[in-house]
Amino acid sequence: MRNEAHAGANAEPRHQRSIAPHLMRAAVVTRYGPPEVLDVREVERPSAGEGDVLIRVHATTVTAADYRLRALNMPAGMRLMGRLAIGVRKPRKPILGQVVSGVVEKVGAGVDRFHPGDEVFGLTPGGGYADYVAVNADGPLALKPEGLTHGEAAALPFGGHTALHFLRKGRIRKGERIAVYGASGDVGTAAVQLAKHLGATVTAVCSGRNIERIRSLGADIVLDYTTDTIPPAHARYNVVMETVGKTSYSRWKGAMAPGARFLMIAGGVPEYLRMIPTNLFGDHRIIAGVAGADAESMEFLGARAEAGELRPVIERTYPLDRIVEAHRHADTGRKVGSVVIEL
Ligand SMILES: NC(=O)c1ccc[n+]([C@@H]2O[C@H](COP(=O)([O-])OP(=O)(O)OC[C@H]3O[C@@H](n4cnc5c(N)ncnc54)[C@H](OP(=O)(O)O)[C@@H]3O)[C@@H](O)[C@H]2O)c1
Repeated sequence: MRNEAHAGANAEPRHQRSIAPHLMRAAVVTRYGPPEVLDVREVERPSAGEGDVLIRVHATTVTAADYRLRALNMPAGMRLMGRLAIGVRKPRKPILGQVVSGVVEKVGAGVDRFHPGDEVFGLTPGGGYADYVAVNADGPLALKPEGLTHGEAAALPFGGHTALHFLRKGRIRKGERIAVYGASGDVGTAAVQLAKHLGATVTAVCSGRNIERIRSLGADIVLDYTTDTIPPAHARYNVVMETVGKTSYSRWKGAMAPGARFLMIAGGVPEYLRMIPTNLFGDHRIIAGVAGADAESMEFLGARAEAGELRPVIERTYPLDRIVEAHRHADTGRKVGSVVIEL
């Protein structure tokens, strides 16, 4: 899908910078806070340890995980758990960036899945906001789809793996009806396309300004949450996917068929507590948790993209030097698909 705004037209080209060979540029975060805590500076370049590949990063994105980690912005009731998991006073990993698309520079001992020069894309456990990142070669990484730029490939893994994980957990079947709430986000845009690929009839819910864009991704029906009745009267969905933490099972249960599944991607503790009685005694099942990713899921997304069944949705592109602006835009909660960072 066409990139609407390229914010990096005046950025200094990468090759004009002179950086010592053991150093690299990275956006570093040394405390939790607003986008301004991101500071682009020179840091030590990582190396490829045993089982790793060292990737020269060409593109990454501002994912929900990145803006949440940066600001310690957790779903309701999860802040303490979040601190313990990612760092009590500051992020334990100072370089954010969950996504990468780039070129393998070096491989560590024991790696035969990739070779220097391979173009790859995938997820990292952090570290993508840098010229180089070292990741496990057996992790969620795959060869970049040939017809895609690095920016386009970087727009696939985050929303793509999340949507895929939950659609698979929800065992969506051909011919079933799914409602995707929050269809214009990174997860939602992937969910609409993957649900269509799996043969479902898709009702997408977004705001009016995004209706045409979401229709163009293949949604059968698109509803505007600012003007339409949500959920629509007499609807009987087999699957409801809530991607943005802005609606609830209680609101949708009357619009769900017997045996239907509610995929809760962004719920907080109160929603998790409501899961227990529903799953024990109700007619429906609520499915939540953290989306896992592996090499197979990246290969699956790459294959769907090559086949034209999963199109990257990119709203804006920024150079690394303007990563603060990119995060400011994502913080509005209104980004459409991906905000790409080019290096
Ligand atoms: N469980 C997991 O493993 C997992 C994995 C990934 C992500 N997540 C969570 O999933 C959530 C979504 O991630 P994302 O990457 O898709 O976020 P995102 O791209 O930042 O979502 C932005 C979108 O949300 C839409 N939106 C905002 N308010 C809305 C509302 N009231 N109703 C419907 N849509 C609304 C906006 O559309 P409008 O401007 O049109 O409102 C915008 O397009 C995040 O909370 C993230 O933490 C969970």
